[in-house]
Amino acid sequence: MIVRAMQKKIFEITADLYIIPVFKGENNRFSPEDYSLFGAKLEAFAENGGIKEEYKKRSFYSFEAFGGVKKIFFLGLGEKEKLTREKIREASGFAAKEAKSLGAANIAMALLSPSPDDFKAQLEGFMLADYSYDELKAKKDADKISALNFPDTAVQFEKAISETTQVIDAVFFAKDLMNGPGNYSTPAKIADAAKKVAAGDKRIKLKVYSLEEAKKMGMGSFYSVAKGSEEPAKFIVAEYKGAPASKKKGVFVGKGITFDSGGISLKPQVSGSSMIEDMKFDMSGAASVIALMKIISGLNMKINAVFIAPVTENLPSGKAYKPGDVLTSMSGKTIEVISTDAEGRLILCDALYFAQKYSPAFIVDIATLTGACVMALGHFATGLMGNDETIKTMMKKAGETSGETVWELPMLEEYAETLKSKYADIKNIGEGGAGTSVAGLFLKEFVGDYPWVHLDIAGTAYGIKNKSYIPDGVAATGVRLMYEFTKNAVNGGVL
Ligand code: BES
Ligand code: MN
Ligand code: ZN
Repeated sequence: MIVRAMQKKIFEITADLYIIPVFKGENNRFSPEDYSLFGAKLEAFAENGGIKEEYKKRSFYSFEAFGGVKKIFFLGLGEKEKLTREKIREASGFAAKEAKSLGAANIAMALLSPSPDDFKAQLEGFMLADYSYDELKAKKDADKISALNFPDTAVQFEKAISETTQVIDAVFFAKDLMNGPGNYSTPAKIADAAKKVAAGDKRIKLKVYSLEEAKKMGMGSFYSVAKGSEEPAKFIVAEYKGAPASKKKGVFVGKGITFDSGGISLKPQVSGSSMIEDMKFDMSGAASVIALMKIISGLNMKINAVFIAPVTENLPSGKAYKPGDVLTSMSGKTIEVISTDAEGRLILCDALYFAQKYSPAFIVDIATLTGACVMALGHFATGLMGNDETIKTMMKKAGETSGETVWELPMLEEYAETLKSKYADIKNIGEGGAGTSVAGLFLKEFVGDYPWVHLDIAGTAYGIKNKSYIPDGVAATGVRLMYEFTKNAVNGGVL
């Protein structure tokens, strides 16, 4: 989709479809010039209540111009005071979906609000709604919208357009990796995706460790999860140096399980609301940190950041790790395995420990970690935990601006107690509920004293319904959130 900021008036732009927002009580706001273009017909249409003003209601008006029949799409927005940024994303996504179903390819769309941040939300919602995944289908999906033109937009919006289009491009990059099934989006493919990003930027130093190399570095926990699979595991580390003079670095760690069968603690076909085939999305954390690197590099951010993704399948086999096994993590801590299905924390603990070698200003980890998080928070809030108020606050603020809501869960000592093991330093699951908190408390053991935030996206990465701007349920939640967080960290002097 080509996006253009134009200094023309909306009806001076050649388009198939003109999208015009209408607020409550404003359906008669057209200027005499506008009406002169359409004659009295549009005026009569408006006066007869043809234009619906309620939020997400649509009405169409056809007219002839530029040698064909064109349509005006009046996009109802309801009361102006109640229009939030998230409602802008949603309304704009709704408009895009409708435009697509009309077969419109070239669109002119008026701004829903004069604020540049609202404009970004409008563009985000519109572009995100146009996503579809048809790579593995012989019959491809309907054509995507080819151009989106904004009228009366001054040059100041050019920057917002270039920023937003790069962000959305990276979100789509993450979504494609996520949608790729276990036999396509393998650990090697994810490493290739990271290579592709790194190849375009000399400031990125990429190292992809094999499982043997990871084992040699002492990652006994990651190794144990991976050893049951025939698909070669990868430990991906990408260092981005956009501020060579600065010592500050942020580290982002993403869980990369390309398929989570549960291992010897095999998952059933259906458990609660999740299907085993959805466990191909269990690499969403890894995909999102690589996508974040793509944004940071693409926008030439003057910061230093490291992106780490332990990537493997979790499968049962004669070589697989077993309940009762005791693993030695890179930190030296031994871990008793109670469930091989609590594998995410086992690959992350080595990655988090590895992250400490950078003496980071902060560590963020992101993972589809617990089914309990889906129970607790559903699909519209990412679970958040951490050991540092400043960083947590920055992440919460990022949740508000991105619309990717985060919600803090408690890290109670009482829950940590349940991780005590009879045979090792710690066991990999607790008891007595609060599974998301317990998982967070497990990870906390591996970050030392570094400021750290943990994001559990088990419910938010995919499975979202009834959002116009998230068309097929794959949200790649975390990409926009972590980008906003990174900007907050820069503004707050942390990075
Ligand atoms: N990948 C799953 C978590 C998950 C479940 C993500 C549902 C998305 C939807 C994770 O590896 C897992 O299996 N967790 C277990 C932990 C349990 C054994 C303590 C779970 O949530 O059941
Ligand atoms: Mn699991
Ligand atoms: Zn998992």
